[in-house]
Amino acid sequence: MRPVDKDYRIYGERIYLRPIVEDDTDMVLEWRNSENVVKNFIYRKQITKSEHLEWLKNKVDKGLVHQFIICDNVGDTPYGCVYIPHFDDENNKAECGIFLGDNKNRPRGIGAEAMKMVLDYCFEQLNVHKVVTRVLAFNKASLKMNERAGYVQEAYLKDELYIDGKYEDVVLFGAVNPYVLSGNDENV
Ligand SMILES: CC(C)(COP(=O)(O)OP(=O)(O)OC[C@H]1O[C@@H](n2cnc3c(N)ncnc32)[C@H](O)[C@@H]1OP(=O)(O)O)[C@@H](O)C(=O)NCCC(=O)NCCS
Repeated sequence: MRPVDKDYRIYGERIYLRPIVEDDTDMVLEWRNSENVVKNFIYRKQITKSEHLEWLKNKVDKGLVHQFIICDNVGDTPYGCVYIPHFDDENNKAECGIFLGDNKNRPRGIGAEAMKMVLDYCFEQLNVHKVVTRVLAFNKASLKMNERAGYVQEAYLKDELYIDGKYEDVVLFGAVNPYVLSGNDENV
């Protein structure tokens, strides 16, 4: 994929998405390394500043990752990140992830709104055929969020991962682009 133009915006009802920039680094690291995010994430390691800057340079700036800051339409308050960490070009698939900061004034449900906006972006702007997202099965807020965003549970993977000394179940969600032909149709 091509990198996202820095002026690009995606507008929703309560929030808008803007591409991540280097100046967001301290804020994003605070969100990403917070206790609530780490305990709900599959990849648990704390991210250092230099790792994050490498990520921006080697992934985001090259278009291998599309990452957005979720901001309030009124007042621009940043709430978190929603991102596409992986594109599978061969199968025209993408994976989506999200983490929000610990802002007590964060409106409810904006995670679902942001996930839906990125799903539409994948389908309508990038013409991706399928988007998937994986969730640790105990993460009830995320399970609800994904369903509300338009994902469908495709699999329940028992004891899929060994994390912090315990086997954890993972739920796999998927969403198929409703706007394009599947390519399986003989008349295509
Ligand atoms: C997952 C996350 C993005 C969801 O954000 P959101 O869509 O804005 O969701 P909300 O915080 O409004 O909560 C969604 C729902 O889950 C419910 N919920 C939250 N914690 C819950 C719990 N422990 N048990 C059951 N339900 C829970 C909320 O009550 C709400 O339901 P309701 O609207 O029917 O009352 C956010 O919670 C987050 O950043 N979590 C930490 C990181 C993370 O888990 N990322 C996803 C990894 S896959």
